[in-house]
Amino acid sequence: MQIHKRPPASILFIFGGSGDLNYRKLTPALYNLFLDEWMPEQFAIAGLGRTPYSDEDYRKHLLEGISKFSRRKGEQNGHWQDFSQHVNYISLDAENPADYKKITELVAEKEKEWGVHPSVIFYLAVAPQLVPNIATRLGELELCNDKHCTRIVVEKPFGHDLKSAHELNELLSTKFTEEQIYRIDHYLGKETVQNILAFRFANALFEPVWNRNFIDFIQITAAESVGLEGRGGYYENAGALRDMVQNHMLQVLCMVAMEAPVSFDPNEIRNKKVDVLNAIRRITADKVHEFAVRGQYSKGWMKGQQVVGYREEKGVDPNSNIDTYAAVKFYIDNWRWQGVPFYVRTGKYLHQKATNIVIQFKEAPHYAFPAEAAQTWRPNRLTISIQPEMDIRIRFQAKRPGQTMTLDPVDMTFNYDTANGEHAPEAYETLLLDVMEGDATLFMRGDQVDAAWRVIMPILETWENRTPQDFPNYAPDSWGPDEADVLVARDGHSWINLPTK
Ligand code: BG6
Repeated sequence: MQIHKRPPASILFIFGGSGDLNYRKLTPALYNLFLDEWMPEQFAIAGLGRTPYSDEDYRKHLLEGISKFSRRKGEQNGHWQDFSQHVNYISLDAENPADYKKITELVAEKEKEWGVHPSVIFYLAVAPQLVPNIATRLGELELCNDKHCTRIVVEKPFGHDLKSAHELNELLSTKFTEEQIYRIDHYLGKETVQNILAFRFANALFEPVWNRNFIDFIQITAAESVGLEGRGGYYENAGALRDMVQNHMLQVLCMVAMEAPVSFDPNEIRNKKVDVLNAIRRITADKVHEFAVRGQYSKGWMKGQQVVGYREEKGVDPNSNIDTYAAVKFYIDNWRWQGVPFYVRTGKYLHQKATNIVIQFKEAPHYAFPAEAAQTWRPNRLTISIQPEMDIRIRFQAKRPGQTMTLDPVDMTFNYDTANGEHAPEAYETLLLDVMEGDATLFMRGDQVDAAWRVIMPILETWENRTPQDFPNYAPDSWGPDEADVLVARDGHSWINLPTK
């Protein structure tokens, strides 16, 4: 086992302790950090929620989640036993100020037991409408005056629109300093997303061609093969543009498009990303139809299973106009990217789960080969697959072996699994460890969130004001509405769907 420095003593309070996110993601992540000896020597985890649980039942419930969702399942030779001793459940009504005393008491108890003042982390894995109240109550606790050791983690969605995000930022900043606020976007914790920075800025080879002189267009796809997964209530207030584009996809776009940072200082990286968001061309209401396409799935078949249409889902209005698919063409108005389209698309119940970035280079300036040699000539293409495939491929032309001069496009591939031989940590592992270590590089700063909302607000407002005439407009197991094909076809391009293994 690798020797590494562990984070300082920490107590994690998970609001929404009995909820889905904790069950599927947070506890499995903390458990894996424990198995990899990344958890602090002294730590406590308290799940907070209204559902009544004894500690014993709560631990059983979490173990069940681990057995279903963790990359390492089950008890792992008694390690679960050790880990679960650090986990407790506190029944708490987030609306009742008196209940917050239980938090202070636990911190005092652990401080006494450990003989050190621990970092105290509040993780708000709750419905967005509960965040302002909880944050206000927490901000009133005396222990939050310790700006160095107390942190608050806020899950997405961060606000419902620019105005509410701004208000939430204002409210948080009356109680916490920016350094204490960790706005999470789990895409930033994904290994393959972090690797974009390594790929771009740890190599001398790619940066010189990473601009409008060499790149024709860029596509960023986050296609999901799942539907709502029982989240109708939430999704009705979100839609694909809010749920995926405003956060995950714009963050990925920033990593692809940002200028080289001078250092790995959290603020330096975040400044460079905000610059990208600020440079994205605003789409005016009258142009939204040229730059953005929305879709909603109908009933149909998904991999041999019959599925209901979005409007028939539980918790969904039968006349709902919410988008389950969104595709947008962005331009970045700066020297590096002027004129290069960034096509971004995401959707539920699409043909294949695939998140990737395709960077299509321009054609070679001159074809010296005879025409018949180059019938299959294709421009260079770099593909960064984020998930489920985790690889980087560069497509280039090669001579087909034989006595004739024929060219074929071939791929040179770097694959994470074969290169590293073991499973990469899950995004939430990386992010939770960063919170315990007090490293905010992979978290969003308030102005970043605002800037991202500013980018999508004109589209959101236009969509909200105009009833779509053709919903539902795509079938499950397809690649989305036909209109999305038209969006890129107008520029002479098409969507690039990578073959599965
Ligand atoms: C979440 C969205 O933020 O990201 C979900 O709310 C979506 O709707 C999920 O399914 C996708 O995450 P991942 O890691 O599976 O790509």
